[in-house]
Amino acid sequence: KPTIREIFDSMDYGTAPEGNAEVKAWLAKHQRFGHWIDGAFTAPGKTFATRNPATGDILAEVTQGTSEDVAAAVASARKAQTKWAKSGGAARARVLYALARLVQKHARLFAVLETMDNGKPIREARDIDIPLVARHFYYHAGLAQLMDTELPGLEPQGVCAAVIPWNFPLLMLAWKVAPALAAGNTVVLKPAEYTPLTALLFAEISKEAGLPKGALNIVTGDGETGAALVASDVDKVAFTGSTSVGRKIRQATAGTGKALTLELGGKSPYIVFDDADLDSAVEGLVDAIWFNGGQVCCAGSRLLVQEGVADRFHAKLKRRMDALRIGDPLDKSIDVGAIVDPVQLATIKGLVEANRAGEIHVAACALPEGCFYPPTLITGLSTADMLMQEEIFGPVLVSTTFRTPAEAVEIANNTRYGLAASIWTENINLALDLAPKIKAGVIWVNATNLFDAAAGFGGLRESGFGREGGWEGLRAYLKPGAKTKALAPVAIPEALVEEAPAMDRTAKLFIGGKQARPDGGYSRAVTFKGKLLGHVGLGNRKDIRNAVEAAHAAKGWGRTTGHNRAQILYYIAENLSARSTEFAQRIKDQTGKSGTDEVAAAVDRLFTYAAWADKYEGAVKPVPMRGLAVAVNEPVGVIGALCPDEAPLLGLVSVMGAGIAMGNTMVLVPSEAAPLSATDFYQVLETSDLPAGVVNIVTGSAQELAKPLAGHLDVDAVWSFSSQPLSTLIEKEAAGNLKRTWVNHGRARDWTRADAREFLAQATEVKTIWVPYGE
Ligand code: NAI
Repeated sequence: KPTIREIFDSMDYGTAPEGNAEVKAWLAKHQRFGHWIDGAFTAPGKTFATRNPATGDILAEVTQGTSEDVAAAVASARKAQTKWAKSGGAARARVLYALARLVQKHARLFAVLETMDNGKPIREARDIDIPLVARHFYYHAGLAQLMDTELPGLEPQGVCAAVIPWNFPLLMLAWKVAPALAAGNTVVLKPAEYTPLTALLFAEISKEAGLPKGALNIVTGDGETGAALVASDVDKVAFTGSTSVGRKIRQATAGTGKALTLELGGKSPYIVFDDADLDSAVEGLVDAIWFNGGQVCCAGSRLLVQEGVADRFHAKLKRRMDALRIGDPLDKSIDVGAIVDPVQLATIKGLVEANRAGEIHVAACALPEGCFYPPTLITGLSTADMLMQEEIFGPVLVSTTFRTPAEAVEIANNTRYGLAASIWTENINLALDLAPKIKAGVIWVNATNLFDAAAGFGGLRESGFGREGGWEGLRAYLKPGAKTKALAPVAIPEALVEEAPAMDRTAKLFIGGKQARPDGGYSRAVTFKGKLLGHVGLGNRKDIRNAVEAAHAAKGWGRTTGHNRAQILYYIAENLSARSTEFAQRIKDQTGKSGTDEVAAAVDRLFTYAAWADKYEGAVKPVPMRGLAVAVNEPVGVIGALCPDEAPLLGLVSVMGAGIAMGNTMVLVPSEAAPLSATDFYQVLETSDLPAGVVNIVTGSAQELAKPLAGHLDVDAVWSFSSQPLSTLIEKEAAGNLKRTWVNHGRARDWTRADAREFLAQATEVKTIWVPYGE
């Protein structure tokens, strides 16, 4: 122990250990945990140890969940679900409120247990994780209270599976459990194998809050248990974790009809301009990359600093790094704690050791023995370097420089991820100019790692899909109430596939604003009851690629104003209306049913989307800090859609209208049985001032075109309303770049009923932009 004189000489920090007697007593009471099923702990089965990574000590034994355990938990959740849903939003609000209160009451116990199981500094568990958990339950008590009146016509998904990671064990539980319960679902949650303890404590406490048995079940175990849960009889899967496991879950759930949200990895840029308040930006970086030892999906792990200030900034940063304190996570004056597990430590070491580029600076602070990794900075990298692309998930910051704002955007977007970004500049014009250009679900202006229950969080691209938090997060736990019927595949009349003569009246494809002959040179006769109606081109993989390229080239459409897009939609409606008799006749020829109502409905649908084009508003979230979280509805990008067979014109127009009203560009595969309405329709598009490439139409076999469309890496979302059973294929193919999917799973949709909001939500990504505001 240093003497008082030595302390005065060095002015070093003393230790400030947090007591852990209560946690030890709680652990001693349990020692070996079973699962929490149907409101009680089961007898422990085959167990494994969960350890304190800072000391290596075993904290407790937990049970490795089997598929029987999972089935028992799901059965309990299933049994409890209807009653919980029927109890009503107000009754559920009371329980969520009680949960929030109990989290606050036991905050110290939770925080210490979290720190011991995960290795994060007690300062973070105490001041960030646990308060945010309580905030989440309070906020969702409010959503439960309001949803019956504010969200009519929606119902819970049913039983939800939640699979969560180890970096924010209780907070990730809250992010999934609070909205699921608020919406009237019941839950089976699998915590990460390294960090199951706070979930088990929470389960115990949930009983005290009056949560009915079965509403929340916890099954512990590893990835195999997680896979068993994903495969079990649940209605929705909510996952947070690595991109590779997210991809597996996308494939495993393909075609099952299970709703899915994925919150995956990231390599988020942290952009510092030369006019930024550099000292604040350095402090921000401490939070961006050394908060939770960098084991944060949205960590600002990629520093982009403007060339003119790079040396000065790096020097300041190194000085600050050297002053960080790393050590016992239970010490209240520690900045950086332990890495969650030796396996993760080995991953970090492996990645850094494999790197040959740039210059490395390791923080000068004393490094304790054991599962610790020092704060590290690697400067002078370029975008192609492995560490600029790979998620390290540790306290390692990589850095590069840029010259102009345009270059900053280019480097920022040079990643397969799209979770978050921080922009540091004193020029608000510059920050707000960049915010829409950066491909990410969350943007922080002069800040980093801000989270709140009211603000949506989630990513794009290989960072997954779906938002957590806010009304948009709740929506992911609800579905439209209308019951749907199974859809019978529409029979495609047997028709001769023939080589197209050079000069014929075969309807061509519509790509990049031009009529294009199909690449393969084949066409097919369209008939109804044996009567020849015409010919359409048979598109192939190459045509899909051309159409996607054209749709990309037209992405400027997303930057036009809603007012402009509305005008064009009105114009399309007007031109369609002028030709309504002819379109009605075409529908009658192809289907045998009068087309008059369908054409009228299609015109009306275009008016509806024209109306929405400048009214599908974002929101300003009142977050409890000096700032606003502005939720902006952005286009998804390029949407590929297989249109319904049963309503050849109205179906096409409904899908297209929603997509282009929100600024997307589209590749449409029209009704296979009745494609002539679509090929007539592009004549309407040609005369309506729609820029080339915004809508592309590829006729042909839905079965054949679905695969290249859903697998295309430059398509951002794929929708299918085809009557062919394509959902499994599409969702499997979509796993490649983890694009969003919206497929009908063979269920019919009533195309005469406008459900515009559902379409608009599918046609947009919510980007949450945090800006400083007020005092
Ligand atoms: P992981 O993705 O393997 O684990 C997350 C959760 O998924 C755990 O509960 C795990 O048991 C479960 N799981 C694993 N395989 C599964 C499967 N086939 N089906 C269903 N559930 C499954 O992440 P892990 O191994 O803990 O960490 C590896 C890397 O993942 C990290 O180095 C980091 O790069 C990344 N990661 C990203 C997170 C994020 O928040 N984006 C969180 C945790 C890890």
